[in-house]
Amino acid sequence: MAQRETWATRTGFILAAVGSAVGLGNIWRFPFVTGEGGGAAFLLVYLLFVALVGFPAILVEFVVGRKTKRNPVGALIELGGDAWKYVGGIFIVTGFVILSFYSVVAGWFIRYFLEGFRGSYSSHLAEYGGEAGAMFGELSTGLDAFFFHTVFMALTIGIVALGIRQGIELAVKVMVPAIVLLLVGMAIWAFTLPDAGAGYEYYLSPEFGVIADNWQELLPAAAGQAFFTLSLGMGVMITYASYLGEDRNLAKDGTAIIGFDTGIAFLTGLVVFPIFFSAGITEPGEGGAGAIFISMTEAFADVTGGHILGLVFFGTVAIAALSSAISLLEVVTAYVIDEKGVERWKAALGMGGVIYLLGVPVTYDLIFLDLLDGFADGVLLVFGALMLVILVGWITPKIAVQELEKGIGDLGSLGQAWIWAIRVPILVVLIVSLSLGVIDYVDFLTEDFAGWIDENL
Ligand code: PHE
Repeated sequence: MAQRETWATRTGFILAAVGSAVGLGNIWRFPFVTGEGGGAAFLLVYLLFVALVGFPAILVEFVVGRKTKRNPVGALIELGGDAWKYVGGIFIVTGFVILSFYSVVAGWFIRYFLEGFRGSYSSHLAEYGGEAGAMFGELSTGLDAFFFHTVFMALTIGIVALGIRQGIELAVKVMVPAIVLLLVGMAIWAFTLPDAGAGYEYYLSPEFGVIADNWQELLPAAAGQAFFTLSLGMGVMITYASYLGEDRNLAKDGTAIIGFDTGIAFLTGLVVFPIFFSAGITEPGEGGAGAIFISMTEAFADVTGGHILGLVFFGTVAIAALSSAISLLEVVTAYVIDEKGVERWKAALGMGGVIYLLGVPVTYDLIFLDLLDGFADGVLLVFGALMLVILVGWITPKIAVQELEKGIGDLGSLGQAWIWAIRVPILVVLIVSLSLGVIDYVDFLTEDFAGWIDENL
């Protein structure tokens, strides 16, 4: 086998992980799931989840990756034995499922970004009778969506085919700083909007009664969102850590990555909720997958400077999506390279091609978006995280603590605290979240999806 690639720099690894974490999950998904979860109530549960479950869980993936220096399937076999290849297999499937719809949604952002070059957002809206919903309806499916899904997948495949240093590391060094700068700029601008205050209030003042009454929906939604946004539960962080050439302080890197990701999701809330409320949208959960497109287009059509801002906003999200998509494809590609001995570019092209085809139905009808998205973050990611916690917490705790200590030094009782956290409390939370998530998803299948089939087939 050829020598396995490594990151050129520590910053390269961190930026790649941040680039993976920061994406549609932060900017497209976070506002509407927060809206669906009632704003601040959801935010609080989500933040707790990230800190108490996300942090220990990202360390789990890091140690597995760095210890084995292999793709997730190979890594799990090496640590757990042959039967674990099935769990690894599920990770690969999860990569397929997520990237397939992810690319379609990212394609919408490219489309909206390019609209900005054709003229102002208000002139585009006028073409749809002033209806942002109608515009989204038109662009989100059909030929348009199909075309931009194709463009986005081609870009993703291109970067992954170039490899770790020449492709991914180089790309994220440009993309990640750009995303941060652009979002900060937009948050400052959103602050100046007339109804910004109402947006902040909705977003930032939790009602504890709401949390207590709705925990059965809030918990799985927060769990799904936390794993999705941190790229956990399907081996991205295993794969990225497998390219670590030297032993760094993984706890420090993990903290930086989670801090960045959470900061950016939070910042996105500071951008979008003032904009929503200023555009008269007071039920931010309503628009679902279209929420961001519909309300942002309305807002960009309305405010001064909206033309440029819109262009910047949609472009930023497209970049963020690309730096995440490459990590999803890298997992699948690394698997084919390591386990099947296929050349990198062939692996990226072949796997990317299949994922591309899987995404095509989404461009036909958005019910397929819910079908794939709901399955991935309600069920697959939580399941994946649960399996990793069992492996590291119960089967290989000693190896894991030793690995974590490399680059940090003797952890003493902290290492044990980490193992016990994942062994019992986190395990229980994951089992509860997974059960609730499965129930939700079965509801979706038997109600919404069955209804769609009745109507359409
Ligand atoms: N974390 C990415 C985002 O928030 C999505 C993602 C999920 C990427 C899982 C890789 C793995 O957009």
